[in-house]
Amino acid sequence: MELNYMIFITPVLVMVSIAAALAGLLAFADKYIASYGECKIVINKGKELIVEGGNALLSYLVDNKIFIPSACGGKGTCGYCKLKVLEGGGPLLPTETPYLTKQEVLHSVRLACQVKIKRDVELAIPEDLLAAEQFKSVIEKIEDLTHDIKRFVFKLSGSSKINFKAGQYVQFCIPDTTEFRAYSIASDPGTKDRVELMVRLVPGGLCSTYMHEALEVGDEACLTGPYGEFFLQENSKKDIICVGGGCGMAPIKSIINHLFATNAAQNITYFFGARQKKDLFYTEELERFEKKHKNFEFVPALSEPAKEDEWTGEVGFITQVMQKHLKYNKNQEAYLCGPPPMIDAAIGILTSKGININDIYYDKF
Ligand code: FES
Repeated sequence: MELNYMIFITPVLVMVSIAAALAGLLAFADKYIASYGECKIVINKGKELIVEGGNALLSYLVDNKIFIPSACGGKGTCGYCKLKVLEGGGPLLPTETPYLTKQEVLHSVRLACQVKIKRDVELAIPEDLLAAEQFKSVIEKIEDLTHDIKRFVFKLSGSSKINFKAGQYVQFCIPDTTEFRAYSIASDPGTKDRVELMVRLVPGGLCSTYMHEALEVGDEACLTGPYGEFFLQENSKKDIICVGGGCGMAPIKSIINHLFATNAAQNITYFFGARQKKDLFYTEELERFEKKHKNFEFVPALSEPAKEDEWTGEVGFITQVMQKHLKYNKNQEAYLCGPPPMIDAAIGILTSKGININDIYYDKF
């Protein structure tokens, strides 16, 4: 019985080993020996890059100052570096599929860090992504906003100016790595020579630990951007509801500052959820706005106020407070920023209050 088993299993093992060795050899040859010669990367049927093939598409784009979002340094683990490869991208890889929806696959969306350039390729990249730039900067200010959130002000070097829409984000380049992290811009788009970010310390987080514990005023830093489809619809005159939690404050602060800087006349209500009083910040500034602008209401709420907080404001999840405060009104739009469960619950309440789903803009993080 044992002998029969061995007779059967030995050829199988040999074949598997040969197949594995061949696959390894092919991968080695592809990586170190194969030469693909000159390849043409055509972008949006216009711009052309001539490159020596063999590397990942993402690296050619970065070399040519095309800064599409990428958080993981090309490891294929963030799913940010999406673009359309219309021709020449080869088959979709198993490393890409977890990050792509069926719709995206149907529309030729790929991860730029996983597509190896072996022949001419044709790409479609949204124009706003092509406009993203790399900025050198110096840290001008660092301050504590809460026990785990810091505010960083980056002064852009030389005469650099950043043009962005309220709500968009930039990427911070983590020094000595190829990795980036995305942070929403908290400053007003009218301020073009500085960028303000709010960063929460994530336990064990590579970037937030570096920023909280190593970065100092006067240090140089690199940013890329702006990015993102979450931004204020400047031509709309609808009443505005903002909902934020934690560092979700950053893009909402940018939106609200921009609305007041442009004398917006519509009603603006800002719901901000925190756990305890120690998690609240910018409260005084927002209350000052409330006194100055009759069309602005700020509604902070604590979900678990501590006894020593002596909190007399709203208590409960911010979505419960929204449910209580909001009236049925179809002529409103909403901007939501914070953790996914908060956003999902907020969308349900907003639509039940008559707001069209297409008028709800959100950024989950
Ligand atoms: S998946 Fe992170 S850069 Fe491509």
